[in-house]
Amino acid sequence: MVARQPIRFIAEPGQVWLVGAGPGDPGLLTLKAAECLARAEVVVHDRLVSPAVLAKAPPGAERIDVGKACGRHTLSQENINRLLVRLARQGRNVVRLKGGDPLIFGRGGEELEVLRKAGIACHVVPGVTAAAACAAAAGIPLTHREHAQALVLVTGTRSDGSLECDWPALAGSGLTRVFYMGLQHAAQISRELCEHGCAADTPVALVQQGSLPGQTIRVGRLDRLAELAEGLRPPTLLVIGEVAALAEVPVSPVAAEAEGF
Ligand SMILES: C[S@@+](CC[C@H](N)C(=O)[O-])C[C@H]1O[C@@H](n2cnc3c(N)ncnc32)[C@H](O)[C@@H]1O
Repeated sequence: MVARQPIRFIAEPGQVWLVGAGPGDPGLLTLKAAECLARAEVVVHDRLVSPAVLAKAPPGAERIDVGKACGRHTLSQENINRLLVRLARQGRNVVRLKGGDPLIFGRGGEELEVLRKAGIACHVVPGVTAAAACAAAAGIPLTHREHAQALVLVTGTRSDGSLECDWPALAGSGLTRVFYMGLQHAAQISRELCEHGCAADTPVALVQQGSLPGQTIRVGRLDRLAELAEGLRPPTLLVIGEVAALAEVPVSPVAAEAEGF
Protein backbone atom coordinates (compact mmCIF):
# COMPACT_ATOMS: atom_id res chain seq x y z
CA MET A 1 0.00 0.00 0.00
CA VAL A 2 1.32 3.47 -0.90
CA ALA A 3 0.86 6.11 1.78
CA ARG A 4 -0.50 9.44 0.49
CA GLN A 5 1.94 12.26 0.98
CA PRO A 6 0.62 15.55 2.35
CA ILE A 7 0.29 18.11 -0.45
CA ARG A 8 3.00 20.73 -0.22
CA PHE A 9 2.24 24.28 -1.27
CA ILE A 10 3.51 24.78 -4.79
CA ALA A 11 2.60 28.10 -6.32
CA GLU A 12 1.89 26.60 -9.72
CA PRO A 13 -0.52 28.62 -11.79
CA GLY A 14 -3.96 27.41 -12.68
CA GLN A 15 -4.80 25.79 -9.35
CA VAL A 16 -7.47 26.57 -6.81
CA TRP A 17 -6.75 26.54 -3.09
CA LEU A 18 -9.94 26.09 -1.11
CA VAL A 19 -8.90 27.76 2.12
CA GLY A 20 -10.58 28.04 5.52
CA ALA A 21 -10.29 31.56 6.94
CA GLY A 22 -11.36 30.55 10.46
CA PRO A 23 -13.96 32.44 12.51
CA GLY A 24 -12.55 35.95 12.01
CA ASP A 25 -9.66 36.48 14.42
CA PRO A 26 -6.56 36.44 12.17
CA GLY A 27 -4.71 34.70 15.01
CA LEU A 28 -6.88 31.65 14.32
CA LEU A 29 -5.80 31.39 10.70
CA THR A 30 -3.60 28.34 10.05
CA LEU A 31 0.00 28.85 8.93
CA LYS A 32 -0.81 27.07 5.69
CA ALA A 33 -3.80 29.33 5.02
CA ALA A 34 -1.62 32.41 5.62
CA GLU A 35 1.00 31.03 3.23
CA CYS A 36 -1.61 30.41 0.51
CA LEU A 37 -2.94 33.92 0.95
CA ALA A 38 0.52 35.47 0.81
CA ARG A 39 1.05 33.87 -2.61
CA ALA A 40 -2.42 34.41 -4.07
CA GLU A 41 -2.90 36.23 -7.35
CA VAL A 42 -6.64 36.36 -6.90
CA VAL A 43 -8.76 35.83 -3.78
CA VAL A 44 -12.41 34.92 -4.20
CA HIS A 45 -13.95 35.42 -0.77
CA ASP A 46 -17.18 35.26 1.22
CA ARG A 47 -18.70 38.01 3.34
CA LEU A 48 -17.82 36.31 6.63
CA VAL A 49 -14.09 36.59 5.92
CA SER A 50 -12.75 39.36 8.15
CA PRO A 51 -10.79 42.31 6.68
CA ALA A 52 -7.85 41.41 8.95
CA VAL A 53 -7.61 37.98 7.30
CA LEU A 54 -8.00 39.41 3.79
CA ALA A 55 -5.14 41.77 4.55
CA LYS A 56 -2.80 38.74 4.50
CA ALA A 57 -3.07 38.66 0.68
CA PRO A 58 -0.55 40.81 -1.24
CA PRO A 59 -1.81 44.36 -1.89
CA GLY A 60 -1.63 43.66 -5.63
CA ALA A 61 -3.77 40.51 -5.48
CA GLU A 62 -7.22 40.87 -6.99
CA ARG A 63 -9.99 40.49 -4.41
CA ILE A 64 -13.43 39.35 -5.56
CA ASP A 65 -16.27 39.49 -3.01
CA VAL A 66 -18.89 36.88 -3.83
CA GLY A 67 -20.38 37.16 -0.34
CA LYS A 68 -23.80 36.52 0.97
CA ALA A 69 -25.84 39.07 2.93
CA CYS A 70 -29.21 38.27 4.49
CA GLY A 71 -29.64 35.13 2.40
CA ARG A 72 -28.76 36.93 -0.87
CA HIS A 73 -25.59 36.00 -2.73
CA THR A 74 -23.74 38.72 -4.62
CA LEU A 75 -23.16 35.96 -7.19
CA SER A 76 -25.20 32.78 -7.53
CA GLN A 77 -23.42 29.53 -6.62
CA GLU A 78 -23.44 28.57 -10.29
CA ASN A 79 -21.73 31.82 -11.24
CA ILE A 80 -19.17 31.39 -8.44
CA ASN A 81 -18.37 27.92 -9.81
CA ARG A 82 -17.97 29.32 -13.33
CA LEU A 83 -15.78 32.16 -12.04
CA LEU A 84 -13.42 29.75 -10.27
CA VAL A 85 -13.05 27.59 -13.38
CA ARG A 86 -12.47 30.66 -15.57
CA LEU A 87 -9.82 32.16 -13.26
CA ALA A 88 -7.96 28.85 -12.98
CA ARG A 89 -8.06 28.38 -16.76
CA GLN A 90 -6.51 31.83 -17.12
CA GLY A 91 -3.53 30.24 -15.38
CA ARG A 92 -3.87 32.25 -12.19
CA ASN A 93 -3.12 31.06 -8.68
CA VAL A 94 -6.57 31.23 -7.09
CA VAL A 95 -7.44 31.21 -3.39
CA ARG A 96 -11.10 30.50 -2.68
CA LEU A 97 -11.39 31.83 0.87
CA LYS A 98 -14.30 30.80 3.08
CA GLY A 99 -15.21 31.58 6.69
CA GLY A 100 -14.42 28.83 9.20
CA ASP A 101 -13.74 25.50 7.51
CA PRO A 102 -14.51 25.35 3.79
CA LEU A 103 -16.12 21.92 3.98
CA ILE A 104 -18.45 22.61 6.91
CA PHE A 105 -21.64 24.35 5.79
CA GLY A 106 -19.56 26.34 3.35
CA ARG A 107 -20.54 24.86 -0.02
CA GLY A 108 -16.90 23.89 -0.44
CA GLY A 109 -17.97 20.38 -1.41
CA GLU A 110 -19.99 21.70 -4.35
CA GLU A 111 -17.11 23.83 -5.61
CA LEU A 112 -14.66 20.97 -5.20
CA GLU A 113 -16.87 18.73 -7.36
CA VAL A 114 -17.15 21.31 -10.14
CA LEU A 115 -13.40 21.98 -10.18
CA ARG A 116 -12.57 18.26 -10.25
CA LYS A 117 -14.97 17.71 -13.14
CA ALA A 118 -13.31 20.60 -14.99
CA GLY A 119 -9.93 18.89 -14.50
CA ILE A 120 -8.57 21.71 -12.33
CA ALA A 121 -6.19 20.88 -9.49
CA CYS A 122 -7.82 21.88 -6.22
CA HIS A 123 -6.38 21.59 -2.71
CA VAL A 124 -8.22 22.01 0.57
CA VAL A 125 -6.73 23.87 3.53
CA PRO A 126 -8.94 23.30 6.59
CA GLY A 127 -9.90 26.12 8.91
CA VAL A 128 -11.08 26.49 12.51
CA THR A 129 -14.82 26.02 12.28
CA ALA A 130 -17.23 28.27 14.18
CA ALA A 131 -18.27 25.48 16.56
CA ALA A 132 -14.70 25.04 17.81
CA ALA A 133 -13.97 28.78 17.94
CA CYS A 134 -17.22 29.81 19.65
CA ALA A 135 -17.06 26.97 22.15
CA ALA A 136 -13.49 27.97 23.02
CA ALA A 137 -14.53 31.61 23.36
CA ALA A 138 -17.31 30.66 25.77
CA GLY A 139 -15.23 28.08 27.65
CA ILE A 140 -17.60 25.28 26.62
CA PRO A 141 -16.17 21.78 26.11
CA LEU A 142 -18.16 20.40 23.17
CA THR A 143 -17.69 16.87 24.46
CA HIS A 144 -17.31 15.88 28.09
CA ARG A 145 -17.18 12.42 29.61
CA GLU A 146 -19.91 13.31 32.12
CA HIS A 147 -22.20 15.37 29.89
CA ALA A 148 -21.86 14.74 26.16
CA GLN A 149 -20.72 11.65 24.30
CA ALA A 150 -21.54 12.94 20.82
CA LEU A 151 -21.43 16.23 18.97
CA VAL A 152 -23.84 17.07 16.14
CA LEU A 153 -23.31 19.99 13.76
CA VAL A 154 -26.68 21.02 12.33
CA THR A 155 -27.69 23.54 9.70
CA GLY A 156 -30.33 25.83 11.17
CA THR A 157 -31.44 26.92 7.69
CA ARG A 158 -31.84 24.75 4.58
CA SER A 159 -31.12 26.04 1.06
CA ASP A 160 -34.81 27.05 0.63
CA GLY A 161 -34.71 29.06 3.89
CA SER A 162 -36.71 26.50 5.90
CA LEU A 163 -35.62 24.33 8.80
CA GLU A 164 -36.21 20.59 8.72
CA CYS A 165 -34.40 18.18 11.02
CA ASP A 166 -34.68 14.70 12.42
CA TRP A 167 -36.00 16.13 15.71
CA PRO A 168 -36.43 12.81 17.56
CA ALA A 169 -32.76 11.99 16.86
CA LEU A 170 -31.61 15.48 17.86
CA ALA A 171 -33.58 15.33 21.09
CA GLY A 172 -31.66 12.21 22.21
CA SER A 173 -29.59 12.31 25.41
CA GLY A 174 -25.84 12.77 25.77
CA LEU A 175 -25.64 15.06 22.74
CA THR A 176 -24.20 18.49 22.16
CA ARG A 177 -26.09 20.10 19.28
CA VAL A 178 -24.49 23.03 17.51
CA PHE A 179 -26.74 24.95 15.13
CA TYR A 180 -25.08 27.02 12.40
CA MET A 181 -27.33 29.65 10.73
CA GLY A 182 -29.98 28.90 13.36
CA LEU A 183 -30.60 32.37 14.79
CA GLN A 184 -33.70 33.16 12.72
CA HIS A 185 -35.20 29.77 13.65
CA ALA A 186 -34.44 29.94 17.37
CA ALA A 187 -38.14 29.72 18.35
CA GLN A 188 -38.73 26.65 16.15
CA ILE A 189 -35.56 24.90 17.38
CA SER A 190 -36.61 25.45 20.99
CA ARG A 191 -40.19 24.28 20.40
CA GLU A 192 -39.30 21.17 18.36
CA LEU A 193 -36.60 19.97 20.75
CA CYS A 194 -38.88 20.43 23.77
CA GLU A 195 -41.78 18.69 22.00
CA HIS A 196 -39.52 15.75 21.10
CA GLY A 197 -38.31 15.12 24.62
CA CYS A 198 -35.55 17.59 25.57
CA ALA A 199 -36.00 19.02 29.06
CA ALA A 200 -37.19 22.62 29.04
CA ASP A 201 -34.25 23.57 31.26
CA THR A 202 -31.59 22.08 28.95
CA PRO A 203 -28.72 24.59 29.01
CA VAL A 204 -28.12 26.68 25.86
CA ALA A 205 -25.47 29.19 24.84
CA LEU A 206 -25.51 31.69 22.00
CA VAL A 207 -22.26 33.13 20.70
CA GLN A 208 -22.42 36.12 18.39
CA GLN A 209 -19.30 37.10 16.42
CA GLY A 210 -17.15 34.51 18.16
CA SER A 211 -13.44 35.49 18.26
CA LEU A 212 -14.21 38.99 16.93
CA PRO A 213 -14.29 42.33 18.80
CA GLY A 214 -18.15 42.25 18.83
CA GLN A 215 -18.23 38.86 20.57
CA THR A 216 -21.34 38.42 22.73
CA ILE A 217 -22.19 35.35 24.78
CA ARG A 218 -25.60 34.61 26.28
CA VAL A 219 -26.55 31.54 28.27
CA GLY A 220 -29.90 30.28 29.47
CA ARG A 221 -32.36 27.43 29.07
CA LEU A 222 -33.89 25.81 26.00
CA ASP A 223 -37.46 27.01 26.53
CA ARG A 224 -36.17 30.60 26.62
CA LEU A 225 -34.01 30.32 23.49
CA ALA A 226 -36.12 32.72 21.42
CA GLU A 227 -35.93 35.43 24.12
CA LEU A 228 -32.20 34.91 24.49
CA ALA A 229 -31.78 35.33 20.73
CA GLU A 230 -33.57 38.67 20.69
CA GLY A 231 -31.37 41.50 19.44
CA LEU A 232 -28.56 39.21 18.32
CA ARG A 233 -27.41 39.29 14.71
CA PRO A 234 -25.62 36.85 12.41
CA PRO A 235 -23.11 35.36 12.62
CA THR A 236 -24.39 33.66 15.75
CA LEU A 237 -23.95 30.03 16.79
CA LEU A 238 -26.32 28.07 19.07
CA VAL A 239 -24.97 25.41 21.42
CA ILE A 240 -27.61 23.20 23.06
CA GLY A 241 -26.81 20.55 25.63
CA GLU A 242 -25.58 20.01 29.17
CA VAL A 243 -22.10 21.29 28.31
CA ALA A 244 -23.54 24.78 27.72
CA ALA A 245 -23.95 25.05 31.50
CA LEU A 246 -20.15 25.13 31.74
CA ALA A 247 -19.94 28.37 29.73
CA GLU A 248 -18.02 31.21 31.24
CA VAL A 249 -19.77 34.45 30.44
CA PRO A 250 -17.79 37.61 31.12
CA VAL A 251 -19.52 39.42 33.99
CA SER A 252 -20.28 43.10 33.34
CA PRO A 253 -19.09 45.54 36.07
CA VAL A 254 -22.74 46.43 36.83
CA ALA A 255 -23.76 42.78 37.26
CA ALA A 256 -20.68 42.12 39.38
CA GLU A 257 -21.58 45.00 41.67
CA ALA A 258 -25.15 43.68 42.00
CA GLU A 259 -23.71 40.28 42.97
CA GLY A 260 -21.64 42.00 45.68
CA PHE A 261 -18.21 41.44 44.09
C1 LIG B 1 -22.62 29.57 6.06
S1 LIG B 1 -22.16 29.04 7.68
C2 LIG B 1 -20.41 28.93 7.44
C3 LIG B 1 -19.73 28.07 8.46
C4 LIG B 1 -18.23 28.01 8.29
N1 LIG B 1 -17.86 27.31 7.09
C5 LIG B 1 -17.53 27.36 9.48
O1 LIG B 1 -16.94 26.27 9.34
O2 LIG B 1 -17.58 27.97 10.56
C6 LIG B 1 -22.33 30.56 8.58
C7 LIG B 1 -22.75 30.32 10.01
O3 LIG B 1 -21.63 29.91 10.78
C8 LIG B 1 -21.70 30.46 12.08
N2 LIG B 1 -20.54 31.33 12.30
C9 LIG B 1 -19.52 31.54 11.45
N3 LIG B 1 -18.60 32.36 11.99
C10 LIG B 1 -19.05 32.68 13.22
C11 LIG B 1 -18.55 33.49 14.28
N4 LIG B 1 -17.39 34.15 14.20
N5 LIG B 1 -19.30 33.59 15.42
C12 LIG B 1 -20.47 32.93 15.54
N6 LIG B 1 -20.98 32.16 14.57
C13 LIG B 1 -20.29 32.02 13.43
C14 LIG B 1 -23.02 31.22 12.18
O4 LIG B 1 -24.01 30.35 12.67
C15 LIG B 1 -23.26 31.55 10.72
O5 LIG B 1 -24.64 31.79 10.46
